[in-house]
Amino acid sequence: MMIDPLGERLLRHGQDHLADHLGTLSGAVHDAFRRELESVDWERAASMHRHAGPHVAPLLPEGLAPIPSTEPDASQRDGFWQEGLAMLARGEAAFVLMAGGQGSRLGFDGPKGACPLGLPDDLVLFEVVVRRLLRLGELSGKIPPFAVMTGPENDAATREWFKDRTGPAVPGSRASWPSLFLQSAAPALDDDGKALVSESGKLALVPDGNGGIWERLRDAGILDAWAAAGVKWIHVAGVDNLLSLPCDPVFLGFAKAAGHPLSCKSVLRTDPSEKVGVYVLDGDRHPRVAEYTELPPETAGARAADGLPVFREANIASHLLTLDLARSFAEQELPWHLARKKIPHVDPVSGHDLSDRSGCKYERFLFDAFPSASGMSVLRVSRAGEFAPVKNAQGVDSPQTAREALENLHRSWIAAWGEHRDPPWVDPMESFSGERPTKTSTRS
Ligand code: UTP
Repeated sequence: MMIDPLGERLLRHGQDHLADHLGTLSGAVHDAFRRELESVDWERAASMHRHAGPHVAPLLPEGLAPIPSTEPDASQRDGFWQEGLAMLARGEAAFVLMAGGQGSRLGFDGPKGACPLGLPDDLVLFEVVVRRLLRLGELSGKIPPFAVMTGPENDAATREWFKDRTGPAVPGSRASWPSLFLQSAAPALDDDGKALVSESGKLALVPDGNGGIWERLRDAGILDAWAAAGVKWIHVAGVDNLLSLPCDPVFLGFAKAAGHPLSCKSVLRTDPSEKVGVYVLDGDRHPRVAEYTELPPETAGARAADGLPVFREANIASHLLTLDLARSFAEQELPWHLARKKIPHVDPVSGHDLSDRSGCKYERFLFDAFPSASGMSVLRVSRAGEFAPVKNAQGVDSPQTAREALENLHRSWIAAWGEHRDPPWVDPMESFSGERPTKTSTRS
């Protein structure tokens, strides 16, 4: 009897239900499902479940200590700004936008970066980033190299968005700017480690966190291309912060002066119940991020003598590292983390929709590589100036709160310039982070 190597592999990794399902299919659907099953690394999927499945009690970090941070004064910031612009002029810094997430809480049917936010000119997160980078090009004489990480669910739509925006919305954009690359994905599993199917003949593949970013950048040839172009620093940030400052010259100048291969931006965490991770030193005095889910309430709520939380440096997913460190991160095996989420899926036998049931999504986080860096500096920045996340459709961290934060910021800039504008709006191409515009309007 002929043994089917795929069937044998599925059986070995506890995925025999998929072999059974394949057996019920025919024609093109059968062939496509077979190819999909063959393309998945089932050993890796089994390892996710083994190491981080629902039966594994997560290890809580011990011996955590607060991490020092720096809040530069106005004159230091000015020095960093000038140095950062000089670095940009020499083409030494590039930007990577992490936009591969599912955005399930936002519930927008499309990439989060293209979600309408109610901003003037209907600007969306993607466009705001593009315009800020173009403004940097104007200030430094060189537009920073730019790459966007997409996810399995939004890759096509993100490519479409960037292809469509070559007109006035993104003046000067070229096909290779930005470079788009697809992040890694993994099958969603049930509590017993069995892979879910999103519909008959299709696996429920979900993005597996941002931890694979350096591997993907390397494999897409982008790290080599950037190295050849003279890039020394890579700034990486999430798509969902409306106030994010890509390749912020202050951050660049700070990181260079700090002398470490890795720097991270934080904002002050004042509310211990806020759902953000914090930068800490681990028991070996290595920098790391402790997720809010990892901190026991007494640790999360502990107060220092000044009344503020002991662990107060909130991670806003804005990291600057040397290209060499990115290469070494690309080689690392990172741990898996479990996220229980509603994952659209069906029963492969009956076809019944089971999307209201939670499934297991496994993720790797890029910050799990941080303890291996030879040093890390934390730049504390102002929340009002740099952090307005878009996570939920309504309420806290929603398009509305982000829009209001941007309006308040613009109002303060406009007042500082001694101008009056109604509405209080500053196009990101006019001013990157509050510097006086060099033109009255750059919009065509
Ligand atoms: P979140 O953790 O907020 O996840 O991502 P999300 O997928 O955007 O939203 P929810 O949790 O489903 O509602 C923070 C940032 O990291 C990126 C996201 O695109 C966002 O910029 N990210 C997240 C990735 O690029 N890949 C991932 O696999 C996960």
